[in-house]
Amino acid sequence: MEFKQKTFFGRRKGKGMSKAKENLITSFMPKFQITLPKNNSKIDLFELFDFKPSSFVFEIGYGDGDHLINMAIKNPDIAFIGTEVFMNGNASILKKILDNDIKNIRIFPDDVNLLFPFLKNESFDRLFILYPDPWPKNRNQDRRMVNLENLKIFSRILKKNAEMLVVSDHPIYIPWVLFCMQNQKDFIWNVSKSADFVNVPLDWETTKYEQKALKEGRIPIYLSFIKK
Ligand SMILES: C[S@@+](CC[C@H](N)C(=O)[O-])C[C@H]1O[C@@H](n2cnc3c(N)ncnc32)[C@H](O)[C@@H]1O
Repeated sequence: MEFKQKTFFGRRKGKGMSKAKENLITSFMPKFQITLPKNNSKIDLFELFDFKPSSFVFEIGYGDGDHLINMAIKNPDIAFIGTEVFMNGNASILKKILDNDIKNIRIFPDDVNLLFPFLKNESFDRLFILYPDPWPKNRNQDRRMVNLENLKIFSRILKKNAEMLVVSDHPIYIPWVLFCMQNQKDFIWNVSKSADFVNVPLDWETTKYEQKALKEGRIPIYLSFIKK
């Protein structure tokens, strides 16, 4: 498969990472980290876990990991895969995985674009993209996680009837997502009334970014799409 490396725009590291966080990453990341195969083979998600998961959930850009951690605690039979490029976030989720003795999370602590080519078709039952960086300037549209090119990838790695949930509070990002979804054929918008996109989904777990947005008076919009 041909794979064109994309440039990553964003933050990989905060101003300073404490020695404790650095030690945490050095000591424990290898146990929970997904490493990319050396050859062109695809990752067997079942092989990443010590149990047979009933389904697989994928979260892109988990930040501090609160959503992934709480979902994983509530659903021990489900396997959760997360990616986050920001190293301070990866240190935070590692600590939470260890503190809660979580066995059903594996993480890819890097740019998700590097992982995509190694994921098999129809790998996941759910995909979460929660408060993605908005990149509000028109000229930076290509950097947005939801874009027409990535929607083809999401469609490839999701099973039929899988849910893709995109949550944002951003006045440019919401119409952008709806515009992209209008220009693709693989997903349908899972909505029958306006309450569906302003009320939290049934098994919702909040995120750090969401808490900040709510405190500052911004309104989260929950856009659920189903893979055809
Ligand atoms: C606004 S934050 C939201 C974090 C978290 N989802 C929350 O709601 O608290 C967006 C996150 O996406 C991550 N991110 C952006 N592009 C990414 C990429 N290509 N691969 C992995 N993570 C990415 C950023 O590092 C950042 O932590």
